Amino acid sequence: MTIGARMGSWIAGALVGLCVAILFTDYVVASRRAPADDRVIKALQQQTKADASFAPKLAAEQKRVTGARLARKTRDNAVAWGLIAAAAAFLWFAKGLVKKDKPLPPGKRWQAEPPAPPRSRPAVAAPALDLSFVDELVSQIGRGKEAAIPLLGAIQSHYRYLPDEALRRVCELTEITPAEIAGTSSFYGQFRRSPVGQHMVRVCHGTACHVSGARQITEELRRYLAIPDGEDTDAARLFTLDEVACLGCCSLAPVLMVDGRAAGKLTPATACDALKVTA
Ligand code: FES
Repeated sequence: MTIGARMGSWIAGALVGLCVAILFTDYVVASRRAPADDRVIKALQQQTKADASFAPKLAAEQKRVTGARLARKTRDNAVAWGLIAAAAAFLWFAKGLVKKDKPLPPGKRWQAEPPAPPRSRPAVAAPALDLSFVDELVSQIGRGKEAAIPLLGAIQSHYRYLPDEALRRVCELTEITPAEIAGTSSFYGQFRRSPVGQHMVRVCHGTACHVSGARQITEELRRYLAIPDGEDTDAARLFTLDEVACLGCCSLAPVLMVDGRAAGKLTPATACDALKVTA
């Protein structure tokens, strides 16, 4: 498929060049010939005014010039459509090639070998949760439904996510129902229902960072950390990868933050290096 795409892009590119050459040549020839044709017709018009026997010659010349111009216009229109089709085909094939070869980071050549993952990390089991924190929290904040958001906020701050066991305990100790817990925790974006890694990596996907390659950086970090599709944390729960809006330092785009420490003007390779300092 890659060879086919490469051949296709070559042929389409050659056709684009050919069409441009034809149009350019036509333009040059026509712009040189038009004044000469106009001069001949003007002279014949003068002669016809003086001698009517030149009229057929004038008519024939006008017919020839008009026919030639119409023929050129028709040909140029056809070539222009061919040019559009060839350019579209070229872009289509080129897109296929870029996909096959992996996207290049902006402004830099892709290094021969992307950095290998740091080491394989075994999955770790979550430690048993100490729910005495929740008991104390409920006694401090209250048992009414109005305590739902403060309770969830405190649980999130303590555990760094909302563990199911802690939420169950909240429901046991308060008037808050599981449905209310589920609704509140899914409504507010800051609440997480799954455990986070030891280090939080926030990759900015604001406009400046997006156009500077934030997508390639995120993909490379996911590959580097071996984060499975559909998840945001590696198996050893060392790193959680989060895509966030503008971090407020657009002049450094593309930017990421590791545990609140910013690193800017990144490439996919240097983004991985930024994690090594922490790992
Ligand atoms: S867009 Fe990334 S820091 Fe502003």
